Amino acid sequence: MASSYTICVLPGDGIGTEVTDCGRQVLDALSGRGGPRFDYDVRPAGYYTFLGVGHSLPDGTLDAAKAADAVLVGAMDVAQIPPHGGDPLGGLRIGLEVSASVRPSRTIDGIAGPTNDIDCVVVREVTEGLYSRDEYMGDDDAAYAVRVVTRKASTNTARMAFAQAMARQETYGRPSLVTAVHKVGVLKLSDGLFLEACADVAREFPEIAYETANIDTCAMDMVRNPGHFDVILATNAFGDILSDVAAGLAAGLGLAASACIGERWAYFEPVHGTAPDIAGKGIANPCATILTVAMMLRYLGEDESADVVETAVYGVLEDGKIRTGDLGGNATSTEMTDAILSSLKIK
Ligand code: IPM
Ligand code: MN
Repeated sequence: MASSYTICVLPGDGIGTEVTDCGRQVLDALSGRGGPRFDYDVRPAGYYTFLGVGHSLPDGTLDAAKAADAVLVGAMDVAQIPPHGGDPLGGLRIGLEVSASVRPSRTIDGIAGPTNDIDCVVVREVTEGLYSRDEYMGDDDAAYAVRVVTRKASTNTARMAFAQAMARQETYGRPSLVTAVHKVGVLKLSDGLFLEACADVAREFPEIAYETANIDTCAMDMVRNPGHFDVILATNAFGDILSDVAAGLAAGLGLAASACIGERWAYFEPVHGTAPDIAGKGIANPCATILTVAMMLRYLGEDESADVVETAVYGVLEDGKIRTGDLGGNATSTEMTDAILSSLKIK
């Protein structure tokens, strides 16, 4: 009997609603061909939800997210939400107790990027750091943001990075490397603690090579020598920036998937935002969401289905006949999704 899962879907704002539909079509196609079955619990969150009900992450949404087997998120227009409207992504990350976001980026055959030599995963802390949301005004002319680094979240994030390194070592049959990113010369206490936690975890994984790099040097080296990097382990803001650098070096945000996995709950979202410039036009690249769906399938233990989805996406991309605007083509989201659906090769 095929397994069955409840997926809590938070389409959110902008293209989020369009791409989550594409992701669901892929899941339904798997079910239709004897794969796992999915029920969807679609819930409100984001800027439009704030406009409607006064809060961007209603309690019922977080409860539904906790009750589901996994959560699929589209995109949220956080910039438009005033402080009293809540913080849907922060609330979800903290509420679901996920400390780390796993963000892979790699060169895809047939897609020209700035380099043809990137294959890395950024493991980014997502609940604290410079994005702690603890900001205040000292007086009218001085604003403060508190950069929070805890041993617990740093350790959890480092464990996720080393787990990724172990998995990649196995998959690729070559040694893995974890690079912990910091600015400890300036942020002596907060990055001092972060690096201490990372080094402690590194000692638990003697089979994985470990190094540290300053954020500025790391950003430059990613551009100049992308092939050096394997697993990049970073605090929240540094990881936010570096995961976009890595995506840009590969094929752009249209292919950038992510998974936020904690001990009890997990949620999955494409790295891109709401893309207001193309929202509603039906032309967003659904691949980031569909690859995110593959990460969700892997988390659920459905490796075979995850492989089927990834093979289909990369096959269509490599084939190159159907491409959305971000990849230089003019296909619609539906055309791209349909091409992926017809390439799903279920054994
Ligand atoms: C991301 C996004 C979010 C983040 C924003 C929208 C709050 O940029 O997931 O990378 O920085 O966490
Ligand atoms: Mn980002």
